[in-house]
Amino acid sequence: MTVLPCSPHSAELLALAAGLPRVPRRDLHGFFDAAHTAAAALPELMGTALDAFNADGNQAGYLLLRGLPVEDDDVLPTTPDRTPAPVDRPLLHLEAMLAIVGRRLGLHTGYRELRSASVYHDVYPSPGAHYLSSETSETLLEFHTEMAYHVRQPNYVMLACSRADHERKAITLVGSIRRALPLVPDDIRTHLFGRPIPCRVDVAFRGGAEDPGAIADVKPLYGDPRDPFLGYDRELLAPRDHADVEALAVLSKALDEVREPVRLVPGDVLIVDNFRTTHARTPFTPRWDGKDRWLHRVYIRTDRNGQLSGGERAGDVVDFVPRH
Ligand SMILES: [Fe+2]
Repeated sequence: MTVLPCSPHSAELLALAAGLPRVPRRDLHGFFDAAHTAAAALPELMGTALDAFNADGNQAGYLLLRGLPVEDDDVLPTTPDRTPAPVDRPLLHLEAMLAIVGRRLGLHTGYRELRSASVYHDVYPSPGAHYLSSETSETLLEFHTEMAYHVRQPNYVMLACSRADHERKAITLVGSIRRALPLVPDDIRTHLFGRPIPCRVDVAFRGGAEDPGAIADVKPLYGDPRDPFLGYDRELLAPRDHADVEALAVLSKALDEVREPVRLVPGDVLIVDNFRTTHARTPFTPRWDGKDRWLHRVYIRTDRNGQLSGGERAGDVVDFVPRH
């Protein structure tokens, strides 16, 4: 299952959201504690689907919750044009959904160097955005596993859509390793499995340097050889030897062949399994009229793959540690 229709549960979900603190950023830890309680009371169908996805993932590498509560467009604030959100911004329905659903899965995590260490990221188009940034609009944001170069790489990237782009052109593409692996010949799998490839990092993690180069190493395939995890970033991986370049090209092509399009509409929450996929976003045209595309993004860590070392809370902010 990849799409879970949630509109039948609207009333229950709004009731759960109403039980959360109204101004989440004043005390995020307390807010996520309240969301944890609400997560245990999710409608059973939703809870069961989330628990199954969290335990075993799925073939597509994502779960799309559709028809969640969202404000009417004329009630929603204008799409932000700066970051981070003001501390006193009242809770939006989809921020509540990200809190509750996210707490069913794991721990919301902020990244010190990213977006002023905020835990909730508003994702909106910005004029003159760096080409690797989620603030791009009119260019393709290429395939990337989110923070594949970071020791505390999140297990899930959650994207909630309060506003789609005007023309509803923007598509999130998800490339799943479970779908792509059968298209990758055995010798290429063996070559890439557990092989550290030099990797650059996103602008936020460059410490102010123009481009420090490949300061991390990422294994494109690792874990269980029969059902491996994926670390794939089309822009940042910087293979030096010819065999690595060729092998990555084969993997890249396989991921392109199996990629699935998700067109986010208001009321959607997309949960991307960030250990088994890479994702991208196609171009769209902003109008800069206060009604441009507006997503809310959070990162969730779980107790898999060394993401946690014990004692963490939802709402914590972590420092950058490059993978090697
Ligand atoms: Fe992303």
